[in-house]
Amino acid sequence: MCGIVGYIGENEAAPILLRALKRLEYRGYDSAGLVVVDNDLACYKDKGMIDALEQNLPKISGKIGLGHTRWATHGKPSKENAHPFLDCKGKIGIIHNGIIENHLELRSQLIKEGHKFTSETDTEALVHLIEKHYNGNLEKAVKESLKQVHGSYAIAVIHKDENDNIVAARCESPLVIGIGSKENFIASDIAALLDYTNKVAYVMDNEVVKLTRNGFEISTVQGEPVSRNVETISWSMEDAEKGGYEHYMLKEIFEQPMAIHNSLLGRIPDLTINEFMNGKFTTIRIIACGTSYHAGLIGKYIFENFSKVPVVVEMGSEYRYSEPIHENTLVVLITQSGETADTLAAAREAKRRGNMTIAITNVVGSSITREVDYTFYTRAGPEIGVAATKTFITQLVALYILGITFGLIKRTLEYDKIREHTSTLRKLPRYAQSVLDEAEHIKKCALTMVDATDVFYIGRNINYPTALEGALKFKEISYIHAEGYPAGELKHGPLALLTPQTPVVAIAPKDHTYDKLLGNISEVSARGSPVIAIGYQDDTELSKLADNVIYVPEVPPLFSPVPISVVVQLLAYYVARERKCSIDKPRHLAKSVTVE
Ligand code: M6R
Repeated sequence: MCGIVGYIGENEAAPILLRALKRLEYRGYDSAGLVVVDNDLACYKDKGMIDALEQNLPKISGKIGLGHTRWATHGKPSKENAHPFLDCKGKIGIIHNGIIENHLELRSQLIKEGHKFTSETDTEALVHLIEKHYNGNLEKAVKESLKQVHGSYAIAVIHKDENDNIVAARCESPLVIGIGSKENFIASDIAALLDYTNKVAYVMDNEVVKLTRNGFEISTVQGEPVSRNVETISWSMEDAEKGGYEHYMLKEIFEQPMAIHNSLLGRIPDLTINEFMNGKFTTIRIIACGTSYHAGLIGKYIFENFSKVPVVVEMGSEYRYSEPIHENTLVVLITQSGETADTLAAAREAKRRGNMTIAITNVVGSSITREVDYTFYTRAGPEIGVAATKTFITQLVALYILGITFGLIKRTLEYDKIREHTSTLRKLPRYAQSVLDEAEHIKKCALTMVDATDVFYIGRNINYPTALEGALKFKEISYIHAEGYPAGELKHGPLALLTPQTPVVAIAPKDHTYDKLLGNISEVSARGSPVIAIGYQDDTELSKLADNVIYVPEVPPLFSPVPISVVVQLLAYYVARERKCSIDKPRHLAKSVTVE
């Protein structure tokens, strides 16, 4: 989510850090900062992009330092919340990418012990914790502190009195060492290093690095030494920014297990919502556009099942002009960018109508957050591909978490059910990963659709919206016409369109609609359309009816849109790639649509 870089060597650190940070701006850029060991720690940071930081930076000298470009998760984008953070005495500097799950607990304990906090971030707790444990050895203090931390992190830390080393550590966030000549680097991404070296060593989870001018030592947080090979990489800068993937979209599809994990960290259920809700709502209205609207349609099934409250889903562009009955309505607005004009206008209208409002968004401090009573951040990290992928999956995660929370508020979920749903939620990153592991097979199936004139995606119940999303993703990047349809509705008209050139993607998990769905597959096969079925592992029926089958792990049906969405994203991607379409920037489309 954030980009981090550290330098130790014989050159001035500040210009090197600034250049590396510019290479990391694609990871997020709402604020930036750096800290350099001079006689004291010289720390500069501000809201805005790296160029702004550079223009206002005084001349600072020092051959060891850290730099950070931020994509906010805790605390709005501001100078105070920008990294690096210093301890109370201004001797220790830290940069961090990730989420410290137990930061509130740590913060209140450290405040009781006399530490002074200056920001709203989760990271600041860690620098004060290291200060507490520091006893003349930075590496030891970092290790002691990390034993008390839960969450995901890649950190780099320096101490004013130890100008011969940087200490860095990783747990579930990327971290790589760059090896130069009499200079070394640490960074979240290879892109930050490529201007200086192509020799790298990867840091793994639960490892701590002591980086000096002449080398590095790795050990575990518990103190076991680790040996690590140095690798030479041959990536171009463009490859590096895409993490070695051919397109941002593919990178973002593959980032989904991590994005889901981050989205879940520390908040099942999200009890902070209780603070502003009185539980009086009798209807939920979900409002969104495009892919976020499809997430909303899936949300309807989740909320109605978990909280037994009736849910209406509406497009942002329609809501303003409708005249809904709006008493006791909770309005949930979904927008990954937080800037979609139609959704913003709907949020204002909902407030005007006196409704309580919640936003689900990925961008901290985006416009929607200023319009609503409560914001739930999806924490997917920056999404560069115009086609929404990881932001969509994390919107679903948000809806499951909110659904459980509403179930608690309305007392409609038994304890056992909450435990069951929570346990499924925790497994979602693994389920998404097992679909990604099948990417080669999905690609083969996708290639059967490259010359299609039209494609139908069909599903029932909670996977009807998944079918809509599959079709949207497909047409958006491959430029082949695609339509999502409730499987039972084909016979009321669209069957007339089926030919051998109109493949059908049939979403068929084993839920209460499964038998009917098998019937629908037979209907389309009989009209000569090739069928790609998506079903649960160990389903032996599908292969008898469909031309190709893609299997996903068997999850409780209410959670099946998660693994199935990964399949439909990959189908769209591989067809568009084969057709040499502009995948990351499809024609006529923009990442955020700021006109009504
Ligand atoms: O930023 P938002 O979630 O509000 O955007 C809404 C739609 O413009 C967006 O989901 C669009 O449909 C995507 N490009 C689809 O991949």
